[in-house]
Amino acid sequence: MDAFEYESVVLRAVTGPTIRPGGLTLTDRAVGFCSFPSGARLLDVGCGAGATVEHLRSRYGFAAGGVDISRRLIAEALVRNPALPLAEGRAEALPVEGESLDGIFCECVLSIVEEPHGALAEFRRALRSGGFLVLSDMYDREASARGELEKRLSESGFSILLREDHTPLLRELAARLVLTHGSLEGVWCNAGGCVAGARSGYYLLIARKD
Ligand SMILES: C[S@@+](CC[C@H](N)C(=O)[O-])C[C@H]1O[C@@H](n2cnc3c(N)ncnc32)[C@H](O)[C@@H]1O
Repeated sequence: MDAFEYESVVLRAVTGPTIRPGGLTLTDRAVGFCSFPSGARLLDVGCGAGATVEHLRSRYGFAAGGVDISRRLIAEALVRNPALPLAEGRAEALPVEGESLDGIFCECVLSIVEEPHGALAEFRRALRSGGFLVLSDMYDREASARGELEKRLSESGFSILLREDHTPLLRELAARLVLTHGSLEGVWCNAGGCVAGARSGYYLLIARKD
């Protein structure tokens, strides 16, 4: 599944404005874990239809913005809330100054980014020292992809503070997609595997820039 298939009407009818397993559950879990300063400067990379940005601003009062490669999803978010600071952009070339962010959220995005290593380098560039990186995504529970990511993060100057498995949220989304669509055929597969695959899992990982 490429980036633009996340605009799919079938998928969006089930996920709504959060295009990922668990809706805002893991976003709130991450905010509860990270000690963000009041009014923290946060960026949601691959923000899709802007639900997390809206939530981080309205519920927590953070100075949150978002970037996404999809012009259509950004436009949809701005129709819903024209005040949101969203921009078209790529994870591999963030439109922000170096060391300018207290936190980056990247929810269900990294496994489909074309150059994930370039994206991680960008996250490191954009975060201030001590800034938090919040990643949630699908992974293959029988492969070492998650281990490789953690190794890459450590090599890139991040300390991993939290790693949790949230595969039940993926199963719940798969069940809702089947109930609505009849099957999962062509609805959601990516580098981490099919949303319903027995090997597919979902993780939350929080790291801090050293
Ligand atoms: C599964 S959706 C998740 C969207 C949003 N994070 C959410 O959870 O609702 C994946 C998103 O990643 C975006 N995307 C894919 N590749 C990207 C890239 N290289 N840079 C920025 N966004 C990207 C897609 O356009 C899509 O909005």
